[in-house]
Amino acid sequence: MSTLDHEQVLIRTGPRSGLPVIVAVHSSTLGQAVGGCRLWRYADWQDGLTDALRLSAGMTAKCAVAGLDNGGGKTVVAMPEGLEFTPSLRRGVLDDVADIIASLGGLYATGPDVGTTPADMAVIGERTSHVFCRPAQQGGSGDSSPHTATGTLAALRAISRHIHGTPDLTDRRVAVVGLGSVGERIVRLLADEGAVLLLSDIDPAKRALSAELGAAWNHPDQALTADVDILVPAALGGVLTEQIVPRLRCAAIAGPANNQLATPAVADLLHGRGIAWVPDYVASAGGVIYALTVELHHGTPEDALTRVQAIENTVTDLLATTESTGTTLAQAAHELTRLRLRAAPHRPV
Ligand code: PHE
Repeated sequence: MSTLDHEQVLIRTGPRSGLPVIVAVHSSTLGQAVGGCRLWRYADWQDGLTDALRLSAGMTAKCAVAGLDNGGGKTVVAMPEGLEFTPSLRRGVLDDVADIIASLGGLYATGPDVGTTPADMAVIGERTSHVFCRPAQQGGSGDSSPHTATGTLAALRAISRHIHGTPDLTDRRVAVVGLGSVGERIVRLLADEGAVLLLSDIDPAKRALSAELGAAWNHPDQALTADVDILVPAALGGVLTEQIVPRLRCAAIAGPANNQLATPAVADLLHGRGIAWVPDYVASAGGVIYALTVELHHGTPEDALTRVQAIENTVTDLLATTESTGTTLAQAAHELTRLRLRAAPHRPV
C-alpha cells in the first residue's frame, strides 16, 4: 500500500457550483500551509485529486527550499471537459473555495494558480482572510506571475554560469514551452537580455508574441526536443516523460511549470544523459516568495525581490552539491527539503 503523506485532504461538492472542490494540506510542519487555487478541466475529477496531492507536496518542498516558514497545500476545483464558466458559476466556485478554506481556520491559505487571478483572490477574500495576491487596491500583493518569471530567470542565470561560466543570457539559445501569464513574462525578459528564443504553445494564437519578439516558433513537441542550451517548461505538468528523455537535445532544463516530471524516475534518466534539471519547485518559487515575504512576513517589496533573486544562489549551491556528491539536483533539493523540515521547531498541528 502506498502511504498518504498528507496531513489532511478535504473533498467537497461545492454547494453552489456542484463541482468537486479539493483542498490538500500536505504539511504544516514549517508553518501555515500555502498553495494556489487551480481551476482546471479534467477527464475525471479524481485526476484533479491526484493533481492536488502532488502539487501540495510540491508546495511543501517549494517553501522549504526557499527558506520560508510555511508548509504546502493546494486547492483544485475539477471542472468537467468542455465546461465554460458563466459569471455566476465562477462566483459560486470561488465562494465554495472560500468556505472550505475558512473551515480550516488558518491551517491553509490560498493564492492564484492556473485558472485563477488576483481578482478571484479578492472574491475569495470576501469570505476568508487566508488568501494571498489580492489586487493592491484590496490590500494584497497583486499578480505573482512577474515575480515567478523573475525567479525563473534567476535559476537560468545560475545554470548559465554553471555551463558557460557566465550568468549573462545574451545569445543563449532558450526554448520556452507554454506562453501563459508566467511564460510570456519570461520570454519578454529573455528577449530583453538578448537570448535566442524558440517559442511554443498549444494555442496557435500565441504565435503573434513570437513574431513580435522576432523569435522562432515551433510545435510544443518539437520545441521540447530542440537543440538549445536551456529548455524552459512553462505550461502544465508531466511534460518530461521516460519516452522523451532520450530525444532531448538541451544541456539543462529549468522552468516555472509545476510537476514537470511524469514520474520521479525521470530525474535519474535526465542525470544519466548529463542534462541538469532544476527541480520545478526551486525554479518556480518566485511568486510565492514575493507574496509571502510582503503579505505574511511584512518585508518591503525590495526585500521580497532580493529573496526572489536569491533563487540564483540556491540553484548555484545545489549545483555545487551535485558536483561534490555525484547526486542529481533533484536528490540535492530533496535532501535540503528534508533537512529544513527536520530542523523545524515542533508545532502542534
Ligand atoms: N501558484 C503559486 C505556486 O505554485 C501559488 C501561490 C502564489 C501561492 C502566490 C501563494 C502566493 O507557487
